[in-house]
Amino acid sequence: MVDIVRTRIALREAVASWRKDGLTIALVPTMGALHEGHLDLVRAAKHRADRVVTSIFVNPAQFAAHEDLSRYPRDEARDAALLEAVGCDLIYAPEVAEIYPDGFATQVGVRGVTARLEGAFRPHFFAGVATVVAKLFIQAQPDFAFFGEKDWQQLQVVRTLTRDLNLPLEILGIPTRREADGLAMSSRNAYLSAVEREVAPALKAALDHIFEATQAPSADMHLVMQQATQGLLDAGFASVDYIEACHAYTLEPWKAGDPARILGAAWLGKTRLIDNRG
Ligand code: PAF
Repeated sequence: MVDIVRTRIALREAVASWRKDGLTIALVPTMGALHEGHLDLVRAAKHRADRVVTSIFVNPAQFAAHEDLSRYPRDEARDAALLEAVGCDLIYAPEVAEIYPDGFATQVGVRGVTARLEGAFRPHFFAGVATVVAKLFIQAQPDFAFFGEKDWQQLQVVRTLTRDLNLPLEILGIPTRREADGLAMSSRNAYLSAVEREVAPALKAALDHIFEATQAPSADMHLVMQQATQGLLDAGFASVDYIEACHAYTLEPWKAGDPARILGAAWLGKTRLIDNRG
């Protein structure tokens, strides 16, 4: 079975011995509850680097008090078996105290790309992600790190912090894995009831509708986005946090000529789904 280490010292030792042999290393940061989307990241990492470390850490710093930290799905044995099957070389699964020991007082903040969308609805989220990702990069010292495009804004945040802090690694984004009906794979899909699961693909359909409008020069984008929101509510979503055409990299509101990325977040019962497409 693939080895699991729980301390940064043990992680460092494994990585140092690979480095001594001249091997390259990729990191795939996850919060566990793995699905095919995560396994795609590991497969891509295997392709690019000699050794792959997957971290499994449900990061408390990126959950607000009212969010789903305590009920976030956890099954380390299942995750380890899936990772073993795709050839992951090492799992790093630290306890919370290993990442945030008593007295921990530092936060990594990224401005600009965090200002809107997820940043507006989950104000704690990107500081929590940026802090843990910076720590994981420093602890694992990988040559490459792989992230899913499913969390498109997060990917831009990670690219920004890596560039701004001159962290010596390359960030790679991997396309979203979808179910046959278009629903983006996500660990949180496990929360959906059977009826909600039927409704869920409407989010991707709404993104598609907006994306098509960005390709039609005369479209009234304001109206299209209003229609998309109404469409989600009519389909059975409880509320829509945002669904919007953006500049793909700055995440400012989209203007004709910009590279387009459509991002959405909406509530289906008590589950918040996010998705995007370009
Ligand atoms: O995308 C995730 O699963 C998390 O936000 C990450 C990048 C592992 C940081 O906790």
